[in-house]
Amino acid sequence: MSAPSRQRGITIPQIRARKGGDPIVCLTAYSTPMARFLDAHVDVLLVGDSLGMVLYGMPTTLGVTIDMMIAHGKAVARGTEHACLIVDLPFGSYKESPQVAYRAGARVMAETGANGVKLEGGVEMAETIRFLTARGIPVMGHIGLTPQSLHADGGYRAHGREADEAARLMADARAVAEAGAFAVVIEGTVEAVAADITREIAIPTIGIGASAACDGQILVTEDVVGLFADFTPKFVKRYADLGAEVAKAAQAYAEDVRARRFPGPEHLFGPKKRS
Ligand code: KIV
Repeated sequence: MSAPSRQRGITIPQIRARKGGDPIVCLTAYSTPMARFLDAHVDVLLVGDSLGMVLYGMPTTLGVTIDMMIAHGKAVARGTEHACLIVDLPFGSYKESPQVAYRAGARVMAETGANGVKLEGGVEMAETIRFLTARGIPVMGHIGLTPQSLHADGGYRAHGREADEAARLMADARAVAEAGAFAVVIEGTVEAVAADITREIAIPTIGIGASAACDGQILVTEDVVGLFADFTPKFVKRYADLGAEVAKAAQAYAEDVRARRFPGPEHLFGPKKRS
């Protein structure tokens, strides 16, 4: 195992210090080329376990393994110089105990060179977050709509619309912050709840479907650029339609090959030049 060294770029303390300042810009990346396209423009690159659905066509994120996260984490690290790099801990790798979570987190950090890990859960994960952060593994929390709890929650749905759920979300946010997380993703909640939490806790909140009241925003890059068409959540803004461009390029290539227009003379090797 060779530990990649990524000494440059935005650090965890710098992200934490952005609380209440300029919005923190975060996107997901799963590959070296995508990381290279995004790196200069974002503060955080997240290797999200959403890669199971977006890249591998899985129906949920539950089938993603730690080996998959490490392989993609390494690939993204190769393309990242500027952004703070965070890798998701996948389902089944960290909820059993703080010790199990430490081993998963340490493996991800050592093998990918990530600056920190993200894990899902609120009050029930506070002890684990405290254990990891006390031992040098920076943790980004993730509360609200947590896709790894899809079945327990009865589906993907917004959280905090009722007063009792809003209070639970606030308790989760407080617990994650007080346990030592350097930032927390809040997914799928109403603006008033996101605003209350952002005012209340001392660490940056990163919203996804949680309004501009948060200290930063994150989206799945493939949603943003139109490379994932299975479904588009309400909270996504699409900035490009690359999927349509890929289909158009494939069609033009197919037409050229079938008409023998490709390859043309400019694509051919000439005979070896004699000296
Ligand atoms: O897995 C993921 O990509 C995520 C972000 C969308 C927050 O958790």
